Amino acid sequence: MLEIGADGRIWLLSGPGSSYALRLTDGDELLHLHWGPRIALADAEALAALPAPRYWPFESQLDGHEEYPVEGGPRFVRPALSVRTEKRRGTEWAFEAYEADGEELRLRFTDSGLLINLHYRMRGDVVERWVTLANDGAAPVELLRADAATWTLPEREGWRLSQLHGRWAAESRLVRSGLTYGEKVIGSRRGHTGHQHLPWVALDTDATEERGEVYGCALAWSGSWRIAVAQLPDAQVQITGGAGYDDSGLLRLAAGETYTTPVFAGLWSDGGFGGASRAWHAYQRAYVIPDADRDRPVLYNSWEATGFGISEDQQRELARRAAATGVELFVVDDGWFGARTSDRAGLGDWTPNPDRFPGGLKPLADDVHALGMQFGIWVEPEMVNADSDLYRAHPDWVQYQPGRRRTEFRNQLVLNLARDDVQEYLWEQLDGLLSSAPIDYVKWDFNRCFTDAGWPGDAYPQRLWVDHVRALYGLLDRLRAAHPSVAFESCSGGGGRVDLGIMSRTDQVWTSDNTDPLDRLAIQHGFSQIHPARVMAAWVTDSPNTQLNGRVSSLRFRFVSAMAGVLGVGGDLAEWTEEELAEARDWVDLYKEIRPVVQRGDLYRLRGPEGGLSAVQYVLGDEAVVLALLQAQHHGEPAPPLRLRGLDPSATYECRETGGIHRGAVLLHHGLRPGLHGDFDATVIRLRRI
Ligand code: GLA
Repeated sequence: MLEIGADGRIWLLSGPGSSYALRLTDGDELLHLHWGPRIALADAEALAALPAPRYWPFESQLDGHEEYPVEGGPRFVRPALSVRTEKRRGTEWAFEAYEADGEELRLRFTDSGLLINLHYRMRGDVVERWVTLANDGAAPVELLRADAATWTLPEREGWRLSQLHGRWAAESRLVRSGLTYGEKVIGSRRGHTGHQHLPWVALDTDATEERGEVYGCALAWSGSWRIAVAQLPDAQVQITGGAGYDDSGLLRLAAGETYTTPVFAGLWSDGGFGGASRAWHAYQRAYVIPDADRDRPVLYNSWEATGFGISEDQQRELARRAAATGVELFVVDDGWFGARTSDRAGLGDWTPNPDRFPGGLKPLADDVHALGMQFGIWVEPEMVNADSDLYRAHPDWVQYQPGRRRTEFRNQLVLNLARDDVQEYLWEQLDGLLSSAPIDYVKWDFNRCFTDAGWPGDAYPQRLWVDHVRALYGLLDRLRAAHPSVAFESCSGGGGRVDLGIMSRTDQVWTSDNTDPLDRLAIQHGFSQIHPARVMAAWVTDSPNTQLNGRVSSLRFRFVSAMAGVLGVGGDLAEWTEEELAEARDWVDLYKEIRPVVQRGDLYRLRGPEGGLSAVQYVLGDEAVVLALLQAQHHGEPAPPLRLRGLDPSATYECRETGGIHRGAVLLHHGLRPGLHGDFDATVIRLRRI
């Protein structure tokens, strides 16, 4: 809902439980009024009527209060917008008009030919904000920095910052610490979202998992990015974020050109960290993830088991075993194309390797379909090996600086996707590939960062940082439109490209290359702060864990850990015993039963990953599912009862595992003992309201 003050200079956006308000002064300064619980227009007007605090000569009256601080004038905070023309630098805007369009508010400002549109849209209780900048003049305008939004928090003491940090194979781990004066800056200068930080922050003063106010912000962008959280001298906190890591130049807009920033979404919740996560999940399922009400299938992928050593017969045999364990989607990972028998060659040549797949992919795909499964493949379209036909034909299609070494990571170079010819090549290759065989799923990988982001011959080469991402989005949009039944997974060496931008164009994400079921608990705990189980791919692999740490764990523990998201199997099924395969079949069957509740339900984190016992609960309608995992038991310490959440205290629930009847009030207040013992024990508890 959008309400507008009588003077046409106060705007109030409201969702079911929250409101956001802003106002324009007579001097066209756009000031923040409110972000928090739902208020009435009269409340916003009362806030606008409060006298401005008194300021001394060394301070700015605007700092900490503006919706979108531009560079220049009486401001000392980090500018969200920094613009340079031949004549001047900075912005001094005049308000032109506002447009109200359903749930969306647009405020238009202008400064010497540059049109600046601030967009606000309520989606449930999530406020989406972004900016469009259009060069309406004759001369070029350089955008040194153009953030998507600045968020302003209410004046409180003792703000804490939560963030999700990590590295390859250890992504999205939650840390929480007090905010001190100055700025905390997170981001990526790597060309992709990065393993190091998810583009999300949350701020609170005293929240717990169950209660308290939490402010969260998440950026919908899959390239380099920056979020700066500033604790200003007068206790104001502002969060500014957008594309690009620094202020050295994002784009140059020629006359008539436009730049649209990514969306920077904000959510206020008073339901604690758990309530905030559930609201983010609901938002993504409703507005971001394509076809979120369609549950994701159980997949098999042999990457961990076989690496590059694949053949058609071996994949066919694995497919037979996968089908027998109830798998629904069989994926051929890296190694099926070009000369790709190791990571040294072949990237860029998207035709089946003639030795490995002499008849192309269709015969295997047909067999996989005949086994009752969907068929999927791995690609890494944005990259090229120097040892490839593509690179030999077009060495100038990669990002590079003339006269400098072309840095290789994993023996590969980054294609310059900002180039039209590269985009067209990839479109033709991928469209041809998807037309050549009945392919239902594409795992789209990105396995190295930008290092030599040069574009010889282009007048403004640094635009490739933004244009690469725009081209990636364009390619995905075009492929999805042409092949609507194909699902896409975003992967970047595991979780290096997880953000709301990629999530609006892919069906799930590869959470991490770390498939160790214990390490995964911390990764999944962090991931769940913002993203729902519906997109969180998780595989059961071998024990000892071959990929990373050699940990030995039970099949039961591995399955229950992976059932917290979109279940997959990635172990070497050729080596699994008949008993293991039969046990796997039972777990897969069980997962299919609980899948709607896991993938579409509300998530409650009952116990975090630290300590011996970890548990999550999902609730959908009358059904609840608890996944409980005990890492190790100490003598004399039985696993404690789990106090359940999200149930009706006046209802009665039947436990599907034991047949036991439980009263909702008892489950909520006293809890349920998971009955776990020893090391790496785990269980699934299903409850149904009767
Ligand atoms: C990345 C992915 C893996 C696998 C390999 C293949 O590392 O994260 O899952 O697909 O690439 O080269």
